[in-house]
Amino acid sequence: MLKKKLIPKVSFISNSEDETILCAQRLAGQLKAGDIVLLQGDLGAGKTTFVKGLARAFKVSPQKVNSPTFVLMNYYKGKLAIYHFDLYRLGDPKEVDTVDFDEYFYGEGISLIEWPERLGEYKPKQYYLVEFQHKGEQKRKICISCPSKHQPKSSH
Ligand SMILES: Nc1ncnc2c1ncn2[C@@H]1O[C@H](COP(=O)(O)OP(=O)(O)OP(=O)(O)O)[C@@H](O)[C@H]1O
Ligand SMILES: [Mg+2]
Repeated sequence: MLKKKLIPKVSFISNSEDETILCAQRLAGQLKAGDIVLLQGDLGAGKTTFVKGLARAFKVSPQKVNSPTFVLMNYYKGKLAIYHFDLYRLGDPKEVDTVDFDEYFYGEGISLIEWPERLGEYKPKQYYLVEFQHKGEQKRKICISCPSKHQPKSSH
């Protein structure tokens, strides 16, 4: 469904961690260097699990993927560079200025961002949005969209 042409919004129901990983692998087929994926949802909703699926598709062992605890970003070297941000601990809005997001967002890697609400003015113009909702102990609703897809790209 997501393979050839991205429809504006697709929803999946995941009944297990493995299904969430499979769902991520389908999105991975769309991703190319420089893409940004915002992962939005409550604590424990499955964002990091989804990152494991994306990482696996780029030949990074899912065991290497965890939410960065003391840093805001983990770097994984796979077929492409993957920058995995978890901005949960970004408390003070001023702290966001200490990270050079542009260096990662507009380079050759793929940026995956948990808690993108914290980005403030650094929120990119073009991105994939993955939204997670708890629907039960093992059940999650996952919506993937590309809200900025139809906006004209800035001309160079
Ligand atoms: N269908 C499912 N998809 C994903 N995770 C699931 C599912 N069912 C149960 N789980 C469990 O829910 C938890 C999801 O944790 P995960 O770290 O991916 O969440 P998160 O959204 O990254 O949370 P945080 O905001 O704390 O970083 C894991 O313990 C996982 O085993
Ligand atoms: Mg997480």
